[in-house]
Amino acid sequence: MGYKEIYNSWKNDPESFWMTAADAIDWVKKPSKALFSERAPLYEWFCDSEVNTCYNAVDRHVLNGRANQKAVIYDSPVTDTTYSITYSELQEKVATLAGALLAKGISKGDRVIIYMPMVPEGLISMLACARIGAIHSVVFGGFASNELAVRIDDAKPKAILAASCGIEPNRIIEYKPLIDAAINLANHKPQTVVILQRPQCTAELIDGRDYDWMEFQKSAEQTECVPVEGNHPAYLLYTSGTTGAPKGVLRPTAGHLVALNWTMKNFYNVNPGEVFWAASDIGWIVGHSYICYAPLIHGNTTVVFEGKPVGTPDAGTFWRIISEHNVSVLFTAPTAFRAIKRLDPAGEFTKKFNLSSLKAMFLAGERADPDTINWAQSLLGIPIIDHWWQTETGFVIAGNPLGIDKLPIKVGSPTVPIPGYEVKVLDEDGNELSSDEFGALAIKLPLPPGTLPTLWNAPDRFKSSYLDKFPGYYETGDAGMIDSDGYLYIMARTDDVINVAGHRLSTGAIEEVLANHPDVAECAVVGVSDNLKGQLPVGFLCLSANVERDIRQIVDECIKLVRDQIGPVAAFKQAVVVDRLPKTRSGKILRGIMVKIADNQEYKMPATIDDPSILDEIKLAFRSIGYAK
Ligand code: COA
Ligand code: AMP
Repeated sequence: MGYKEIYNSWKNDPESFWMTAADAIDWVKKPSKALFSERAPLYEWFCDSEVNTCYNAVDRHVLNGRANQKAVIYDSPVTDTTYSITYSELQEKVATLAGALLAKGISKGDRVIIYMPMVPEGLISMLACARIGAIHSVVFGGFASNELAVRIDDAKPKAILAASCGIEPNRIIEYKPLIDAAINLANHKPQTVVILQRPQCTAELIDGRDYDWMEFQKSAEQTECVPVEGNHPAYLLYTSGTTGAPKGVLRPTAGHLVALNWTMKNFYNVNPGEVFWAASDIGWIVGHSYICYAPLIHGNTTVVFEGKPVGTPDAGTFWRIISEHNVSVLFTAPTAFRAIKRLDPAGEFTKKFNLSSLKAMFLAGERADPDTINWAQSLLGIPIIDHWWQTETGFVIAGNPLGIDKLPIKVGSPTVPIPGYEVKVLDEDGNELSSDEFGALAIKLPLPPGTLPTLWNAPDRFKSSYLDKFPGYYETGDAGMIDSDGYLYIMARTDDVINVAGHRLSTGAIEEVLANHPDVAECAVVGVSDNLKGQLPVGFLCLSANVERDIRQIVDECIKLVRDQIGPVAAFKQAVVVDRLPKTRSGKILRGIMVKIADNQEYKMPATIDDPSILDEIKLAFRSIGYAK
């Protein structure tokens, strides 16, 4: 059967489609049915099952002949370290950490924050939580204390599992001072902090609260997997929304197992035993789904890469890893390839390595620009597959499902919706638009298994953010169109989310930080196009009337404020002072037009603009920092 037949078989009978997919999972108690729609429009999947994620990702492979297969390959050019962990070693490590957590009083339903760089202990921490039914929330290492504190207060973790430091190419990031500052800032105080002491930096431990990773587990007994209900939260992952408060995306256990496992063969076309490498970070959704869970659930070998596509030490690192570890499938963000292409446009580094193991490459996290796709395609001669998804879905919405079919590629489109997703383009009033018409991308409810059933601690926000605008649909926040062949095009966001180097950021969150500067009366942050990172944030600051300080100094302070409060990952390095911001008569800032001015795109003067002449002032301000030429 090809894509069309399989897609239609899902559409005609989603219940049996997902029940068949569920056969690949080892259940403690099998689900009696797939979809639970009693609380529609809130849907859940496989609720009456009992299952354990860690058992499916680790233990069952040890029992089924993969005990000596590599489960994890750690490759860290920044520490010059490479080693691997077999499935049986992984089981021992995970069961021991899980035992130590249990002994500390952490059990099913308790939350645990994980703040780790790209080391295998990050995955071990995630799996140990899953083993005992604790709900983990991984926080990306590039976020600063304030962001960590916000997540501590929302998730209310009993414990934090962390490392003493992360390693960026140009510096060591000490994590412990960031954790201490976050706990000081937060109202909720985790009772236990466990620190993996890395050779590059030793963290000072606070007696009675902090433990050394090894000491913590020294006398722990290995513990078995705890069965949980199908709709038990596997994890929370915070992501950016329109406001500064991040949304805690909740991942349901059973649907997550079924859907991720299904994607490995059907979408990525890998077989158990092959090496799958997602060059991302466990702090992001790609890292959760495709560094940790999916490859392990499916019996693959996963690569934990601690480095950058360039500069660690050069633009050949990706090719070295593929050839040294026999990688079958690589998954990364387009920005990583733009970085490699910029330094090695002729692909000289590829010639030094044997890349014959690589069958396909997948790109996601941001729009894949045609130049990058074409470059990679001609260099590697394998399918380069753009696919579209979000933290909320946890796996692909639209893409070219290589394990089912190989559909013709249209560069610039992530191809077609995969089974589970019926995508529509809607106008402002929710009417369906025709082919090639631009509008909001919405997904017909119910969303498939594994997607978010709600937001942690915020069921009302879940409804208002995703369900209220288009009744019967999930609002993706993306806009685009579908062509007459059914191919999707993802062209813009409908909210204030921007995408910087594949990292999703809220301009609202940056604005909230800037507004706290004592001299800033009003501000706006917009995402302008950038050749390397896709988008970069630029701040516009209106100062209070009586401010007479040096403007450059105020701008520098604002930049530092964002770096200190949100983190370096915001890449907020540019801000300008202006007298006023362009607004509609009702006071809405015209951010969309500001972006078009920066990017030299045409725009229509909105009828509701307060004073059109202000757009010239905005253009001049952009010019002063190198945009709007
Ligand atoms: N901990 C602490 N700081 C971090 C960090 C982490 N885990 N990750 C990034 N940072 C810092 C960087 O050091 C940098 O700081 P600087 O302002 O002092 O230079 C800043 O955050 C921005 O980082 P980054 O966006 O990674 O930019 P870069 O210039 O260091 O590297 C690329 C550019 C394109 C090579 C890099 O962005 C990249 O590899 N992107 C791939 C993104 C990706 O995998 N996204 C996942 C979604 S699928
Ligand atoms: P995140 O939740 O961090 O994975 O970011 C999800 C957002 O990234 C989506 O809503 C899109 O805006 C963008 N995105 C992800 N994949 C793609 C893609 N293939 N093409 C265009 N945009 C994408």
